[in-house]
Amino acid sequence: MRLLSTKATCNSHGQDSSYFLGWQEYEKNPYDEVHNPKGIIQMGLAENQLSFDLLESWLAKNPDVAGFKRDGKSIFRELALFQDYHGLPSFKKALVDFMSEIRGNKVTFDPNYIVLTAGATSANETLMFCLAEQGEAFLLPTPYYPGFDRDLKWRTGAEIVPIQCTSSNNFQITEAALQQAYEDAGKRNLRVKGVLVTNPSNPLGTTMSRSELNLLVDFIKDKNDMHLISDEIYSGTVFTSPSFVSVMEILKERNDVAEGIQNRVHVVYSLSKDLGLPGFRVGAIYSENVEVVAAATKMSSFGLVSSQTQYLLSAMLGDKKFRRNYMAENQRRLKRRQRMLVSGLKKGGISCLESNAGLFCWVDMRHLLHSKTFEAEMELWKKIVYRVGLNISPGSSCHCPEPGWFRVCFANMSEDTLGLAMKRLRTFVSEYCSTSTSTPTTSNTNSNTNALFGSKRNSLTKWVFRLSSREQQER
Ligand SMILES: Cc1ncc(COP(=O)(O)O)c(C=O)c1O
Repeated sequence: MRLLSTKATCNSHGQDSSYFLGWQEYEKNPYDEVHNPKGIIQMGLAENQLSFDLLESWLAKNPDVAGFKRDGKSIFRELALFQDYHGLPSFKKALVDFMSEIRGNKVTFDPNYIVLTAGATSANETLMFCLAEQGEAFLLPTPYYPGFDRDLKWRTGAEIVPIQCTSSNNFQITEAALQQAYEDAGKRNLRVKGVLVTNPSNPLGTTMSRSELNLLVDFIKDKNDMHLISDEIYSGTVFTSPSFVSVMEILKERNDVAEGIQNRVHVVYSLSKDLGLPGFRVGAIYSENVEVVAAATKMSSFGLVSSQTQYLLSAMLGDKKFRRNYMAENQRRLKRRQRMLVSGLKKGGISCLESNAGLFCWVDMRHLLHSKTFEAEMELWKKIVYRVGLNISPGSSCHCPEPGWFRVCFANMSEDTLGLAMKRLRTFVSEYCSTSTSTPTTSNTNSNTNALFGSKRNSLTKWVFRLSSREQQER
């Protein structure tokens, strides 16, 4: 007899992806400058820890807010009882103003069209739930955020069909790739309900061009019941040109209102990256489709943002001077970090896709593979996790169609730790390259890998090879 439902136990959660496995390996042996200097450095987590001091100093200057007080009087009871799932009006207003400001005030957002959710995770799932029947599909450009397998598919039963983007044009979406994905869905008997993109992209760290955005809008325009979801969770991280263009700006420029396109375009946002507050669980859906807003608001009961969080953040984001300074300073710090990573890798002969946003770089290690296969990518990844002591995310976990790419995060550690990570990697690359002629080939990888890492790694090795062949089959 089964104790758990098939829904709870089905595979589409994706928790056995190497993306999550790397986190587990890090948890077993986390780097600490004093207590565990040989431990694994976590570079697989897109967290922004660069500007906590700015948030903390705002909190120190505004003690009433965190102390549940307004004008010196306690509002504890008000906050404890508030349970309207439409959200605190003052918070929604502060949030939409912040979102407009990130877009250079070129577009404005109406607080009536915003639905608050417990992070972008919940926002994306809610949209899937509202827009797709079980077995219907969304097209997603590759490489994509590994969490989407869980967020979009697991509980909704929706499917993801990849739009295969490649390094030949820096992973930009082309009309041919979009059309091919649409046809692939047809071959799998999946009705396509829309396209979902992340702009700026996780894992590429790049913003989408106007022409890509127009291509997507044209694509859904031609097909009456299709939606476009733009996950703009990294919109405030754009630290250098080209500047960020939101899909909302494209809609405004095009003036396609007659076709009702604006009813089929939805934006996802969250404070997890721009403010570095993933623990607060604050996300939002913005949609000018009243039916979507009504359905998503009903759904939001399953993942509300707590009243005290809304209260605190309405005051913080309502402080215009603070939020402007924060954004400018945070972007300056991100830029410095990204430069540090790029130059550190360059010294080791490793290049990255040119990026202008995000908390990570998309790193090209194809030259370090023994063969152009995902087995070789896994082999290299294990060496980097266990020998070098860096947890980075292999491209295969992001469904990248080309082996040899890795996502490397740079904003969740100190500069010293990043410096150490670069040093470790450079040492590894120089040793690896000088011995690579005698290193085992992939044909008998299983036994060679065991020899390389010792028997302790047996279970992981079996798992990794099972996974890499499964990830390839899915391709
Ligand atoms: C593109 C993208 N969407 C959604 C999420 C989930 O964010 P949240 O913490 O707001 O749920 C992430 C987190 O890494 C992400 O990268």
